[in-house]
Amino acid sequence: MTEQTSLAHNLAVGFAQTPKTLSSKYFYDAEGSRLFQQIMALPEYYPTRTELSIFQTQGAAIVQALRAGTMASQPLAVVELGAGDGLKTKILLRELVAQPAASFTYVPVDISPTALDELVASLRQELPALPTEPLAAEYTAALTTLAQRPEAKAVLFLGSNIGNFPPAEQAAFLQALAAPLTPADRLLVGFDLRKDPRRIRAAYDDAQGVTAEFNLNLLRRFNAELGADFQLEHWQHYPDYDPSTGAMRSWLVSRRAQTVRVGALGGQAFEFAAWEAIHTENSFKFTLLQIEQLAQAAGLRVVEVFQDPAQDFADVVLAVA
Ligand code: TRP
Repeated sequence: MTEQTSLAHNLAVGFAQTPKTLSSKYFYDAEGSRLFQQIMALPEYYPTRTELSIFQTQGAAIVQALRAGTMASQPLAVVELGAGDGLKTKILLRELVAQPAASFTYVPVDISPTALDELVASLRQELPALPTEPLAAEYTAALTTLAQRPEAKAVLFLGSNIGNFPPAEQAAFLQALAAPLTPADRLLVGFDLRKDPRRIRAAYDDAQGVTAEFNLNLLRRFNAELGADFQLEHWQHYPDYDPSTGAMRSWLVSRRAQTVRVGALGGQAFEFAAWEAIHTENSFKFTLLQIEQLAQAAGLRVVEVFQDPAQDFADVVLAVA
């Protein structure tokens, strides 16, 4: 399937559901990746800077926990899913590079080729001695890479990206990630934790409107790549948070009754009622108990939990049980 076909297929399948749904993986075209970098720097968007602070203050201990199962001389592959701009990961990479006799390769995987190009260019500047093997692909391609590489492994899945899966798929995904690992390998997974619901909601509804732009960019992408005719002024970004389930959801709401046609689907028309909402993203928030249960359901054990003092975020080292 070409990129355009899979995009068109996703739209057709997603719009046949109730409520209509779009996959969040399509957020990250060049413009979407740029907007997401802006989101990560917003005052309201606490997850990135909190995880960064955990790495800054506990990076050495995290790296130690990641290497604990392997001998210092053993080559290591650090495989990161959804590496993005690598801002946080660079802290861990610097720690790893500084270790004596540590031969390791960094394998950043990201769906956005532009984000990956920029990451590789910045690593060449900042850590020129680090062997880097970027992979512009979806998460599933990372699973194949994991199964094929002979080295010991540290798998990074940061930023609470695990929360973008619906609960029913979270354990299955972790299980698939763990399947090619040996008991000496480690996973590092970032989890955004439950907290004041107003703070969580604000992180997805910033005052400057960058998150709204990011969400609406999905429609812009369908216009540009599929010849759709979404009129952006008739759509609005709407986030909602359910404190009882930890479900932070993003919607695109149709401000009036309207019809949208999609060129790449032979001009197929989609009807939207006034105030009908398209579901575009889940960002589930976790309790520590849920994390334990999730690990167990995936056949993993919790090796060590690293948190910020306010307990806003957790970076959890996991190993095959
Ligand atoms: N993975 C990010 C998160 O769940 C993605 C994200 C941040 C996002 N802000 C958003 C997705 C707003 C949709 C809308 O936090």
